[in-house]
Amino acid sequence: MEEERLQKFLANSGVASRRQCEQYILQGRVSVNGEIVTQLGVKVTQNDVIEFDNKVIKPISKEEYVYIMLNKPLGYVTTVSDERGRKTVLDLVDIDKRIVPIGRLDMYTSGLLLLTNNGDLVYELTHPKHEVSKTYEVSIDKDINNQELEMLRNPMDIDGYMTKGASVKIVERLPQKVLLHITISEGRNRQVRKMIEKIDHRVLYLKRIAIGGLNMENLGLGKWKYLHDSDIKKIYNR
Ligand code: URA
Repeated sequence: MEEERLQKFLANSGVASRRQCEQYILQGRVSVNGEIVTQLGVKVTQNDVIEFDNKVIKPISKEEYVYIMLNKPLGYVTTVSDERGRKTVLDLVDIDKRIVPIGRLDMYTSGLLLLTNNGDLVYELTHPKHEVSKTYEVSIDKDINNQELEMLRNPMDIDGYMTKGASVKIVERLPQKVLLHITISEGRNRQVRKMIEKIDHRVLYLKRIAIGGLNMENLGLGKWKYLHDSDIKKIYNR
């Protein structure tokens, strides 16, 4: 019988991302065959009884995978549950399967967010080594000159980390507002906002419009829909 790491089993069962599941283990919320496990590295098989918060977790078969695209509105946190009682993206997607968001959008960023119960996909799309590109529509408060554009396009130091550079297109240019499309292949915390701050501009709004080759198209704000495997493949068609 195939063994796998406990956090991978939990993630593949739709509990949360692998990284989050590691935290749950360290917090003592996971047990294997009745014993709480608080160390990483434990391996399990399909014969073990795994519980999270005292509920038995069943592995998910491929036929049960679901993929959801949400057009996230402002004011929702991208998490499964929020200790501070704020509205979460799961309040918008009312299905009876345990799903998790893939990656994160800030509370005040809107746009394309994927949710799934396929832990492998969460891992693939969030692990930095896979470098899936994400495109954002950004409205900024004033005109931008060529030097500032080049700063955005080139690697820049953000919180002591050098970014990899970005693709930046001007979509609309007005004296008091410029609309840009910025594509990055990393997902550092608040990266786009910090890039704009670096050139001394202010973000008026920020919306994610694509993940790889998958666009949000005309899905209304706050609305969601199921995706097919073929839509998921579009992520990789850049
Ligand atoms: N960059 C940001 O600043 N915020 C997001 O939510 C995503 C990318």
